[in-house]
Amino acid sequence: MTLPIWVVQFLLLSLLIGECIGRPFYPLPSKFDNKNKQPLQTFRPFNIAHRGSNGEIPEETAAAYMRAIEEGADFIETDILSSKDGHLICFHDVTLDATTDIADNKEFADRKRTYEVEYANMTGFFTVDFTLKELKSLRVKQRYEFRDQQYNGKFSIITFEEFISIALDAPRVVGIYPEIKDPVFINKHVKWADGKKFEDKFVNTLKKYGYSGSYLSEEWMKQPAFIQSFAPTSLTYIANMTDLPKIFLIDDVTIRTQDTNQSYEEITSDSYLDFIKKYVVGIGPWKDTIVPVDNNYLLTPTDLVAKAHSHDLQVHPYTYRNENQFLHFDFHQDPYAEYDYWINKIKVDGLFTDFTGSLHNYQELSSQHKTPADDSSASSLLRKIALMISSRKL
Ligand SMILES: *[C@@H]1O[C@H](CO)[C@@H](O)[C@H](O)[C@H]1NC(C)=O
Ligand SMILES: *[C@@H]1O[C@H](CO)[C@@H](O)[C@H](O)[C@H]1NC(C)=O
Ligand SMILES: *[C@@H]1O[C@H](CO)[C@@H](O)[C@H](O)[C@H]1NC(C)=O
Repeated sequence: MTLPIWVVQFLLLSLLIGECIGRPFYPLPSKFDNKNKQPLQTFRPFNIAHRGSNGEIPEETAAAYMRAIEEGADFIETDILSSKDGHLICFHDVTLDATTDIADNKEFADRKRTYEVEYANMTGFFTVDFTLKELKSLRVKQRYEFRDQQYNGKFSIITFEEFISIALDAPRVVGIYPEIKDPVFINKHVKWADGKKFEDKFVNTLKKYGYSGSYLSEEWMKQPAFIQSFAPTSLTYIANMTDLPKIFLIDDVTIRTQDTNQSYEEITSDSYLDFIKKYVVGIGPWKDTIVPVDNNYLLTPTDLVAKAHSHDLQVHPYTYRNENQFLHFDFHQDPYAEYDYWINKIKVDGLFTDFTGSLHNYQELSSQHKTPADDSSASSLLRKIALMISSRKL
């Protein structure tokens, strides 16, 4: 595969000015011209590139996001945390251990700590104990050993502002989907000089780059964004700071909310959905709570999607992954069969995927042939898609 020229230019530019930490690579929004860009598609479920194209390239790196854009992402998704000195960064875990080379950096060996995170003690190297400059000196690696390891050690952690610049500089309109990650923990460990909270810093960053407007408004279509969080109080707190659409993430049935300590049953009740819909346009549930699984086979779907839709809430489940380690046996090791099930049977409105390219190809190919009405035509459709794929040498 050859990289498109804009990706090559970006990589070169990143190498040249990568040392200028804390500064965005690209100019502020007035300089961007979105007028002539291909708009965001709004006629089919959203392809949400979970931590970039992290099935292929280490998660939350510039390269993973650029790959996702190249592969057809509608939105690039990221987790926002903070450095010790209050810079917002794109990083999933509160600790650096699983996805960076921190263990090889002996100068940081004394930074290991144990902190309480979401009601449990956790030990490791926490982002909140490192300055942005120190974090930038680390290199990111692939989380799963069965994925491509060749990019380990090649890319650094990026800031929220650098992430935004990647989206704004894409050759078509690409939305962003940032998460206010572990706000209780971040607000406890990071104090900003101006007395502002993590949520304020998060929203102000979006405002600085011109992100505004309610779902599908004219402003929003120019620079689409969804704000997501597992913490309902963060979503209600920012409600009067921005009318950008918000998504309430819902964890496994056994996990209580990290801020309000509410159970899964409470937050998926009709009365709670009635309350939260004043603040959010949708929910983002773990997919195995929508369709429970036993022995790696799907059970009967719950009524969560119907319930959410009856409250005018979209449903964007997470996380779709191509590998057989994650695919339930019902899908016969075929990620297209999984997408077909979730899009056409469960009728979700967006999908968080580790493999944006696969979801995009599935959606492109299945929209050329009419959506099948029953299972037998579904499998013949899948056969057709398989033939097309092999003739395309993907
Ligand atoms: C975490 O460890 C501290 C110190 O040992 C202890 O006081 C606290 O109860 C622990 N918290 C949890 C949630 O286990
Ligand atoms: C949002 O509401 C809170 C109180 O509910 C208020 O203190 C704050 O000033 C409001 N912020 C904005 C931007 O209106
Ligand atoms: C959360 O709520 C559960 C159920 O009421 C309770 O057992 C638990 O102690 C609470 N946890 C915290 C940290 O308050």
